[in-house]
Amino acid sequence: MAQMGEPLIAINDLRKTYGRGEAAVAALDGLQLNVAAGSLYGLLGPNGAGKTTALRILCTLLAPDSGTVRVAGVDALAEPRVVRGLLGYVAQEVAIDKILTGRELLQLQGDLYHLDRAQRQRRIAELVDLLGMGDWIDRRCGGYSGGMRRRLDLASGLLHSPRLLVLDEPTVGLDIESRAAIWRVLRQLCDGGTTVLLSSHYLEEVDALADRLAILEAGRVIAEGTPAVLKQALGGDRVTLRVREFSDAEEATRVQRLLQACPGVRQVVVNQAQGYSLNLVVEHDGVAEQLRRQLAGADLPVFALAQSRPSLDDVYLQATGRTLMDAELAVAGSRDAKAERKQSMR
Ligand SMILES: Nc1ncnc2c1ncn2[C@@H]1O[C@H](COP(=O)(O)OP(=O)(O)OP(=O)(O)O)[C@@H](O)[C@H]1O
Ligand SMILES: [Mg+2]
Repeated sequence: MAQMGEPLIAINDLRKTYGRGEAAVAALDGLQLNVAAGSLYGLLGPNGAGKTTALRILCTLLAPDSGTVRVAGVDALAEPRVVRGLLGYVAQEVAIDKILTGRELLQLQGDLYHLDRAQRQRRIAELVDLLGMGDWIDRRCGGYSGGMRRRLDLASGLLHSPRLLVLDEPTVGLDIESRAAIWRVLRQLCDGGTTVLLSSHYLEEVDALADRLAILEAGRVIAEGTPAVLKQALGGDRVTLRVREFSDAEEATRVQRLLQACPGVRQVVVNQAQGYSLNLVVEHDGVAEQLRRQLAGADLPVFALAQSRPSLDDVYLQATGRTLMDAELAVAGSRDAKAERKQSMR
């Protein structure tokens, strides 16, 4: 039974290693995660961080090496069938039939969930409406676009009206409009009481739509909280100033000191590579104008000024020392290096 105040999902010290010996890959390394009932929760992390592994274990499709997973107070390892009944899972890659129509696929799926005919028809009609599938649901799936297929996947996951919807990168590869449509539906579901847990690579979307999020790296959570609190913890707005090229390194140092001494300035980075851009972290709105005046006084008129609140990318950068994109490039690089080593061993 669920304890009072227990989160809907409680994952504790989850570990999972694929393969053995030299080829072993530790996909989860002590994962800790709590998701409150009724929230929309985002999992962020670069390729290979362990998101799919964690979601598959949660959905009882994969066994961990150790650790515990509870859904609504039910032990997912001891009672997988009960947990499966509580949740809907939309996998990262779904192979769908090409010959059947979307409606036929949903009907088949409804049979798997033992919905009776009337229930099934009613639920399909609701989902067709919710996901805007009316124009094409009776066409064969073979001709669906990526966005249509993703909506159909989402409908399959929702057919039995689960309390918890788990989605692995539901919007990857879709255009902005289809992504927005899916997020709208997820938000709507969540407002209606469904708990939604999803993984994503789109920082801006998670930022705008998730109630809370966790950043995963190498199988553990390295930052967790509401987007606003995570960003606030970084503190300060980001300001980029463009000025003329510095005449020499000494001038760059002098300018850096001058800016550093201004009240409200936390950090100054002079981008030597580009010759004339200055990146600062400032405490509040008025500071940027102050800086512009200071620089003008030092014979450095500002050509352009951009100010932004810290983004989740900045949160990611702070937690890991690199941006999400850099982390993904590094993963891709190490994969290539591994493949090369294998080749050369042959
Ligand atoms: N079936 C498998 N056999 C061997 N290694 C695996 C297997 N599945 C995943 N891995 C490895 O486990 C690690 C975590 O993979 P996982 O798919 O969980 O990451 P992910 O965060 O979902 O990545 P992505 O963003 O690319 O989907 C990676 O190093 C991956 O190569
Ligand atoms: Mg994945």
